[in-house]
Amino acid sequence: MELQAAFDHLLSTETPLDGLDALVWHSLAAGATVGKHPWATGCLTTIAKNVDEQSCPSSRTVVLRRCDVEAHSIDFHTDVRSSKVQELECGQAAVCWLFYHPSTKIQLRLQGTASVLNDRQADAAWETVSLLSRSAYLSFEPPSKAVAGSQPPSTTERFVELAESERGRENFRLVRTQVELVDLLYLRQGGHVRASIAYGKKSSVELSWLVP
Ligand SMILES: Cc1cc2nc3c(=O)[nH]c(=O)nc-3n(C[C@H](O)[C@H](O)[C@H](O)COP(=O)(O)O)c2cc1C
Repeated sequence: MELQAAFDHLLSTETPLDGLDALVWHSLAAGATVGKHPWATGCLTTIAKNVDEQSCPSSRTVVLRRCDVEAHSIDFHTDVRSSKVQELECGQAAVCWLFYHPSTKIQLRLQGTASVLNDRQADAAWETVSLLSRSAYLSFEPPSKAVAGSQPPSTTERFVELAESERGRENFRLVRTQVELVDLLYLRQGGHVRASIAYGKKSSVELSWLVP
């Protein structure tokens, strides 16, 4: 069912909170598998340090690659040399994901803790990365490095045959977010709706309506 229709249907039931957790995770699972789903890409915020070593937020778009409905975790792929990995590995593992669907005005905010994986799960994820997407891991110079010149730097080294693309594996990482808090806001024509879902230790799940 389309995202808005699914939320509208749930809200028309007697006890919508009972089905909210399942619907949110169903929608995230769809986001990770259906290319044009509104949750196919999200905005990921990490905590960076500015030039004065002060904490400051840093946001960027990433592709939602995998969703574990049971474990309440979501994954994206990235380059180990990227700033976000350095931020996550410097003791700043708190992250926030934001998904927004402009035409229905549904916003989903997920807070959690991220881990950078380079294990057999990362190996398996790498095997699913297409040749075109592997180009993101094949730059000789690290991402974000400043480059002098009047034109953008060449990226020809990234367009290689499948066998050579294997060298990208050393730069590839799987980043998993353990979701701890969901904040859903739906600017519905019939009245705005907002709810939170908190996942505690020992598998507790607390659902609550919030003032929108
Ligand atoms: C549509 C879109 C999808 C993107 N997906 C990813 C992704 O899945 N992983 C990733 O590391 N960067 C992705 N990027 C690039 C990031 O937004 C960002 O520019 C890059 O990762 C550098 O971020 P950082 O310097 O904060 O680490 C994507 C960008 C766009 C526009």
